[in-house]
Amino acid sequence: MNWDYFMTILAQITDLHLRPRGLTCYRVSDTNNLAERAIRALLALSPRPDAVVVTGDITDGADAREYALARHILGRLPMPVYVLPGNHDSSDTLRAAFSDYPGIRDAPTASGKLHYTADVGGLRLVALDSSVAGKPFGLLGAEQLAWLDRVLAEDDRPAVVAVHHPPMATGIQHMDSIALHDTDAFAAVLSRHAHVERLICGHVHRPIVAGFAGTVMTLAPSTAHQLVLDFDDKAPVDFNFEPPAYFLHCHLPGSGLVSHLAYVENFPGPYPFWADEGVRWPGE
Ligand SMILES: [Fe+2]
Ligand SMILES: [Fe+2]
Repeated sequence: MNWDYFMTILAQITDLHLRPRGLTCYRVSDTNNLAERAIRALLALSPRPDAVVVTGDITDGADAREYALARHILGRLPMPVYVLPGNHDSSDTLRAAFSDYPGIRDAPTASGKLHYTADVGGLRLVALDSSVAGKPFGLLGAEQLAWLDRVLAEDDRPAVVAVHHPPMATGIQHMDSIALHDTDAFAAVLSRHAHVERLICGHVHRPIVAGFAGTVMTLAPSTAHQLVLDFDDKAPVDFNFEPPAYFLHCHLPGSGLVSHLAYVENFPGPYPFWADEGVRWPGE
């Protein structure tokens, strides 16, 4: 089999939860510094991703100072950066802060739900807005879903749909109560378009994979703190410092979208695979 390595790489970081400069998040999570480290990890990649998508909760408090810092940190990336809001964001404040960013610059709506499409190499990115002002759960709404149906119908290139809230229960019950609410209507639209290769989400601060509406949903961990994995119905809403990570969604013609979870931190190694004394490898 000869594989075609003309690859498009879409990096996904999520749930930065930035605070005004100098402040930490929830007392102990230095989200600003951790976001900087994630950006440094992306900058060290070779080849560099074609684009970066940030799937919401960019700030913790939707404060204009937090968005100014987000611009400063994300502005170090030389490739196009696509941002979309999470429940900790404000669609309007985010739209104003990133009005010159690709996608947002040409978004079809000037207020309300912030959604847009963008070309990323061989992929079409469709960014959605599931945030609801003042609420932790997600909602796409009939208008946005009608737009999604339209843009997916007019272009059959491989599509990646990005939305902050996952549309299914994950088993972490306190998060399931604040997942996407209009799941059935969303599934009805996606199931009509077989070229949706992937749905990418954030919100749960854990790596999660699930099937949804004829496609695959991958949920990325946060660049900062992660949620404790606890399926107990009385699980406290706690976080920990499991390793921050991000996804590299690689589109390979003939294979489709192949996603690699990559860590922000460096770990021991690399070590070469030298054979031990007296050991023969297959084929030697
Ligand atoms: Fe979050
Ligand atoms: Fe969230």
